[in-house]
Order: sequence, then structure tokens, then C-alpha cells
Amino acid sequence: MYFKNTVLQASVNNLLGFRPRFLLHQLWPLAALLCAAFLAAPASAATLTLACESPGIGAELCELSAREWAKKTGHTVKMVTIPLSSSERLSLYKQLLTAESPLVDVYMIDIVWPGIMADSLLDLKAQAAATIKDHFPAIVKNNTVDGRLIAMPWFTDAGRLYYRKDLLAKYKLPVPTTWAELTTTARIIQLGERKSGQRGMWGYLWQGRPYEGLTCDALEWIVSHGGGTVVDRDGTVTIDNPSAIAALRMAKNWIGDISPRTVLSANEEQTRVIFQSGNGVFLRNWGYVWSLVDAPDSPVHGKVGIAVLPRGPGGAIGTSLGGHNLAVSKFSRHPALATDLVMHLTGRAEQKRRAMLLGLSPTLSSLYQDPELIALNPYQETLRAAAASATPRPSTVTGRKYELVSTEFWKMVGGVLGEGKDPASSVKSLEKTLNTMHEEGKW
Ligand code: GLC
Repeated sequence: MYFKNTVLQASVNNLLGFRPRFLLHQLWPLAALLCAAFLAAPASAATLTLACESPGIGAELCELSAREWAKKTGHTVKMVTIPLSSSERLSLYKQLLTAESPLVDVYMIDIVWPGIMADSLLDLKAQAAATIKDHFPAIVKNNTVDGRLIAMPWFTDAGRLYYRKDLLAKYKLPVPTTWAELTTTARIIQLGERKSGQRGMWGYLWQGRPYEGLTCDALEWIVSHGGGTVVDRDGTVTIDNPSAIAALRMAKNWIGDISPRTVLSANEEQTRVIFQSGNGVFLRNWGYVWSLVDAPDSPVHGKVGIAVLPRGPGGAIGTSLGGHNLAVSKFSRHPALATDLVMHLTGRAEQKRRAMLLGLSPTLSSLYQDPELIALNPYQETLRAAAASATPRPSTVTGRKYELVSTEFWKMVGGVLGEGKDPASSVKSLEKTLNTMHEEGKW
């Protein structure tokens, strides 16, 4: 199945950059034509544009589901392609919404964006009244800003460890439960496999490119070391502490040892591709990876297992909470239809289908007891438990300023990992910068 998508950036450039300079009298024949076309069109037929994309076959399934809705309702849906990196995606959305563009009706938004985007999104509370109680309350709370439900939960996610079952069995080593174990095991297998001819083998792959993905990975290292969440729930900046410094040192030491230097420019997909080609022992990634690495034509089909991420020296686990929601733009020309489409896509049947075909974790708790889903994905319970205990990034407390906070954080981590900056002075200077952004914990 292949769908051709519109390139959103091109559309945005047209929309924001193209300023036709017609004189009014030159426009009237065109206006007359448009009026005639409008009058001739059935009053009910609308075209909705949807920005929903996940790597892999996620975008195609989203389009298929949206087209089913369109067929049922007599409307048309158009898909737009959005950047893979969530940081780039957010800046594109902000460009569109600042321009009050009606180009996109429905947006897939990250779990950390409600505070940033709330003002440009519609309140879906009334339309969701009958179903919202079935979704995980923590996500509903996350998506409620000043009493407005600005997005419907679509899927939840948590960072996890993918590992090569066959290689652990070959070297008679258990699934690592601490970072120290992971480092040793990765080293042994990497060396062994290289000696036996697999020269491109690396022990541990993760997302080190400076963007939102690095915020997630680094938060996991720091939380597992007991070093806090950069900003705590009360709004206090906590990043300057010895545990955070130790966590950053650990990751820095992986580079060139068990992780290739290329992780410093890699996002989720790039690391997934290396792992799927058979050149990784361990991979830190999200839920979408499962259906791809375990697909029948995957070189590592049947050889991959999933575990929770390893514990830090004090025994804590750090797992970043991820996931996405669907929201309706305040600038949509078809708000009621767009809302109906969002309810269709986030409903039980669609969430189940996405869980079955993509391996994504539903936001409807009842689906975790669904026998068909359990039979299909033996890791269902591991995933549910991981999502339930995952650590949220500090987006609720920092609200609109989250993007700034996260950017400063990933820039600092990138400096330590890639530019040889000293972790201790880096966290000190980040704490100073972040402290200029709030007043006694009020962001
Ligand atoms: C995944 C997560 C999302 C996170 C992003 C970072 O898409 O679901 O919450 O922000 O990765 O790259």
C-alpha cells in the first residue's frame, strides 16, 4: 500500500511566502468563477487536511482510517507530510498557527505540547464527554489546559530497550537490568561479533542528535541516577546536582566504546534502521519500532526482545513518557467535521487497529485486557507497565516555556556529548539560564 502525500513545507512556503499582487478589477472574473463553483458544490462536501504522521507505516494507516471516515461521511481528507523530528514539527506547526492558517484542520501533537499550543486549539470537552472517561486520566489531565480539553489522547509511549535475543543466548548473557551490566554486555557482544566478521556491529544505539529526542534519552539517564527531572513539579530547577553529572559522564563514555559517534546526529529512525539491519545489540527507542523490527521481512525478525530500560546505580529506572494526541485547529474552516474525524481516529476500534498493526500503546485502559491484542503482542503488559510508571518531561509545570527549557537542556547535553564540554560546569550554567525564565517557580 502506498500513498502519495502533499509536502507540507512546500504548502507552508506558498501560504506564507506567496503574496499575489492583483488589482481588484483583475480579480472579479476569478471571484465569479469561484462563486459558481461554490454554488455548484454539494453544501455538505468538505475537504479536511490532516497532519498525522508516525515513522514507518503509521502515516499510511492514519490515511487509510481517515479515508474510511471520509467515505462514511461523504467528505474528503487530504494528508500532509510532517517532519520526523518532533522539534522541527513543532516549529512548523507554530509557523502555521501564528499565521492563523486554515491549511491544516487536524494536528497530531506531542504529549509535551499542550501548554505551548493550547491557545490555537479548540476545546473538545463537549464532544468528548461520553468517551473521555475511558482514556488514561493522566493523559486527559495533561491535555487539559485552563479547563479546556485541547486534544484527544491517541497513543501513549515510553522509552524502552530493544535487545537481540539470539545474541544474548549465543553469549549466554542475561538481559541487562543496570546500566553497568548493559555496558559490559554490549562490549562483550560487540567485540565477539566483530571478531567473527560482523565489522559494523555496535553495542548500544540511542538518540543523540540535539533535538527533543535527546531530551527524552538524557532525562532517562538522569532520572535513573536519581538526578531529577531538570525542573521539578513545583517549578524548581534541579539540574545542577552530582547524580545528573554522573549520568552525563556515563553517556559520554559510551561514545566510541559501545556507541558509534554517529549517534550524535541520529534520531529514532536512524538508530532503528541500524538495529534492524543487524548492526546493534541494544537499542533505546519507542513503541513504533516493534512492528518494523519484527516484520516478516526484517533481517532481525524473531530475534528481538523488549525490556524496560536499565536501572541506575541507586536502583531507579528512568523511562521518558511519550505519545501523541489529535487536536483541532482554531483556524479550521470545518471545526465540527474535524472534531468528528478526531473522535473517529481516537475511538476504540482505531486504537485497537493501531495497536495491532503498529504495536502502539492505546490510551484506553480497557484495551490492555483485549485477548486479541495480548495474543498478538506478548509484550503488551511490559509496555503498559512502562507507560504507567514513565516519567513525564517537565512540560506541565513550565507550560508555554517548555520548548525553551527543553532546547536549553538538549543543547547542554549535546555540548557535553559532542563538543567535549565539562558536565559539571554545563549543568551549573544551564541551571543559571533556566532560573532566568521563572519567578519563584512560576513559569
Ligand atoms: C516520540 C514521543 C514523543 C517525543 C519524541 C521525541 O515521538 O512519542 O513524546 O517527544 O519521540 O523525539
